[in-house]
Amino acid sequence: MNEQKILAPSILSADFSNLSQQIRSVELGGADWLHCDVMDGLFVPNLTFGPIIVEALRRITNLPIDVHLMIKNPDNILENFINAGADYITVHQEEVVHLNRTIARIHELGAKAGVAINPSTPISLLSEILEIVDLVLVMSVNPGFGGQKFILNTLKKIKELAALRAKISANFLIEVDGGLNVKNITEISSCGCNVFVAGNSIFKKDNITAATVELKNLISQNHLFKQTQ
Ligand code: DX5
Ligand code: ZN
Repeated sequence: MNEQKILAPSILSADFSNLSQQIRSVELGGADWLHCDVMDGLFVPNLTFGPIIVEALRRITNLPIDVHLMIKNPDNILENFINAGADYITVHQEEVVHLNRTIARIHELGAKAGVAINPSTPISLLSEILEIVDLVLVMSVNPGFGGQKFILNTLKKIKELAALRAKISANFLIEVDGGLNVKNITEISSCGCNVFVAGNSIFKKDNITAATVELKNLISQNHLFKQTQ
């Protein structure tokens, strides 16, 4: 049973003209990781950034950098992100034919390996890799943009994944990504989520630090609540 509760602000929603200051603000609020949404305009209808941003972040923060590759052929470039300083590399199950080989290669390169599934992709497609992967990212929006609405069906998927993790005594982290906010984060946590990605509900708020503190408290509270049950 993996009970960790980790808040990972998604820099996709940050003000890139002021990135260093925005990172300081979430650090001050107790952020645990930084989530980097890499998009190629092919796998998803948006284009963001490459390893150069991970390099820049690595120079200004010690927080673990969680890279979410929403790109075609991630095998071609994942080494660049690891060399740039990424701690976690997450690829999409929908986009990798030889997933076992890709996970092994991420490990050989010294990073932790994650696999992401889109809202329409069943948990069952991950069954053969759950014992070797470090993190499963359950998308709670259709990937490509911040500020979307949380897809409610995701709660069922999180519970299913948490139950499967317990059944096979695996220890991977469950990450949920898209549409998280102060209203739904406690319920998401109670379903078994460990890593909470939040973009708009942090970086689009007037007080980024306070927004970070509030979400951090909510995921920690629930953690304590579960422990006393
Ligand atoms: C969407 C990205 C998410 C997104 C989260 O494709 O993977 O990480 O940035 O942003 P919010 O929290 O605003 O939905
Ligand atoms: Zn993401």
